[in-house]
Amino acid sequence: MTIAANLSFTHRLEHGSGHNTPPLLLLHGTGGDENDLIELGRMVAPEAALLSPRGKVLEGGMPRFFRRLAEGVFDEQDVERRANELADFVSEAREAYSLPAPIALGFSNGANIAAATLLLRPDALAGAVLIRAMVPLSQHPAADLTGKPVLILSGAMDPMVPADNAARLAALLSASGACVQHRTLPSGHGLSQADVALSRQFLTEAGRAIASAA
Ligand code: MLT
Repeated sequence: MTIAANLSFTHRLEHGSGHNTPPLLLLHGTGGDENDLIELGRMVAPEAALLSPRGKVLEGGMPRFFRRLAEGVFDEQDVERRANELADFVSEAREAYSLPAPIALGFSNGANIAAATLLLRPDALAGAVLIRAMVPLSQHPAADLTGKPVLILSGAMDPMVPADNAARLAALLSASGACVQHRTLPSGHGLSQADVALSRQFLTEAGRAIASAA
């Protein structure tokens, strides 16, 4: 582990061992922190550098990546502001640690800020794994996501993310040019073994595709 440089988000950075493996930007869910997804990151991308910021917004003491008005109802102005802040942090961290553009691996609130970042600052990310994600913004400028690999993993029994909302997210990212795979698993909002296996397979393929295009 590297003790993190003094950047605009509290974060953790774990160096990778693979030269051709894109780093992962790990984005935790509500109540998580920069330590939460390190183990998941190692499981799904054993050789990747892991960059893991802590969300700056507190809801009842629980870190998140943006403010919400109620469960599933987002403060969209704050979503915009925070997605831009996160994209700026990614630039700072890329420079501080000499990293190529990362693939986001976000869970729940982390997946939603990753989706917003894809739409608002597409250059910040090389792709994304969005676990239990929703449409983060009702309006956004046209984004060019041409060729970016995106995996959306939804839960058929997820009480927080309606199936049609996840389907809309898949459709809008595809319409912006991303190469979207959307899988619905027989699970709820929580992470399952299938999320790990599918993310790992997707990241192996995405890493190869990004390396061969470079
Ligand atoms: C969100 O607020 O981003 C979603 O409702 C998921 C959550 O964090 O509970």
